[in-house]
Amino acid sequence: MKTEEIIKLYNEYVMPTYMKTPLILIKGKGARVWDLNGKEYLDFFPGWAVSGIGHCHPEVVRALTRQLSKIIHVSNNFYNELQGELARIISKNSFDGKVFFANSGAEVNEAAIKLSRLYGKQSRFEIISAENSFHGRTLATLTLTGQKKHKQGFEPLPSGFKTVPFNDIMAIEKAVSEKTVAIIIELIQGEGGINVATREYIRFLRRFCTKKDILLIFDEVQTGMGRTGKMFCYQHFGVEPDMMTLAKTIGGGFPIGALIAKRKIADTFTPGTHASTFGGSPLACAAALAVFQAIENGNLLSNAAIMGECLFEKLKGLKEKFSFIKEIRGIGLMLGIELLKPGKFIADACMQEGLLINCTQEKVLRLLPPLTISKKDIDRGMKLLEKGFLSEI
Ligand SMILES: Cc1ncc(COP(=O)(O)O)c(C=O)c1O
Repeated sequence: MKTEEIIKLYNEYVMPTYMKTPLILIKGKGARVWDLNGKEYLDFFPGWAVSGIGHCHPEVVRALTRQLSKIIHVSNNFYNELQGELARIISKNSFDGKVFFANSGAEVNEAAIKLSRLYGKQSRFEIISAENSFHGRTLATLTLTGQKKHKQGFEPLPSGFKTVPFNDIMAIEKAVSEKTVAIIIELIQGEGGINVATREYIRFLRRFCTKKDILLIFDEVQTGMGRTGKMFCYQHFGVEPDMMTLAKTIGGGFPIGALIAKRKIADTFTPGTHASTFGGSPLACAAALAVFQAIENGNLLSNAAIMGECLFEKLKGLKEKFSFIKEIRGIGLMLGIELLKPGKFIADACMQEGLLINCTQEKVLRLLPPLTISKKDIDRGMKLLEKGFLSEI
């Protein structure tokens, strides 16, 4: 089928929930993808960080292929060979706790909400989140999300949620009540425009939550799995959460979400209180185990830190050249370029040049290159990005 035919068929039969770019990607390898016409693109935004260790990583492909011929799905009423091991690896890389598996970021945030409410024993149920945050599209995670535009038309929304300005200690102190059971934070707001939490704020939250027995939840759906040069972004801040949610990169392209909670909280869930038919299937676990292995074997944490710094420096150089760049920010390979004008045209121009990036919050260009990115590809990406910027002058 030709590009136009595929688009026509899609538009006729698929619900129009997405802003679409007229690009049909049919192949991916590492930091590169190819469209139907064979045009190659350097991918600095691989599936919103889903293909965070690059497209079709060989270790993920091998693990999935091997698992496919053994068993694809096992009901969660039976044990599967891999879930316990994956949970152990997640815990080993973060903190002592137990894991609940689902299939997406929204689902594990939903699980975190439910677990918090059970923990609060109905007397405490309120959850506080930050303005500009993004936590998912289910009705509860949408309510948690601190952006009005995503909520419009879906009212009445569930009650028991409050939103406060990000990085504002006083706002938290003011918002907390005797009903508050949890606070959820993205350490770098991704969809919200690459807004980095301050160390002071996060360290305050940890002390404050411990003192008041409020659960501190870090949503690491986008920041986790090596994106910032450490396995989890919170490890830059010298604190530990009570719960953490993961999705995107952890599956290497295959859907999986994980919620890890400290042991005394995790055991609040008892049989029948929560479930997911597909959650933690053998296939999903095989993919996630391969992702952890690939990060270790490929020294990808150190690569993300080094390449992140290199990219950051180059972007600062670009800021000197283009007066419409307001600020460069982020950690590791999660970087944002805030502009003084809308960025969609630049993202589109970059695509024409053969570079895929994202524009969020109208004026922020978001770059999430795969953790496997090489210096050569950073240099190439920068050349293409500069061409995209030049087209705007
Ligand atoms: C921080 C964060 N949390 C949650 C989600 C929701 O994840 P999903 O789309 O897998 O439900 C996203 C998605 O972009 C995200 O960035």
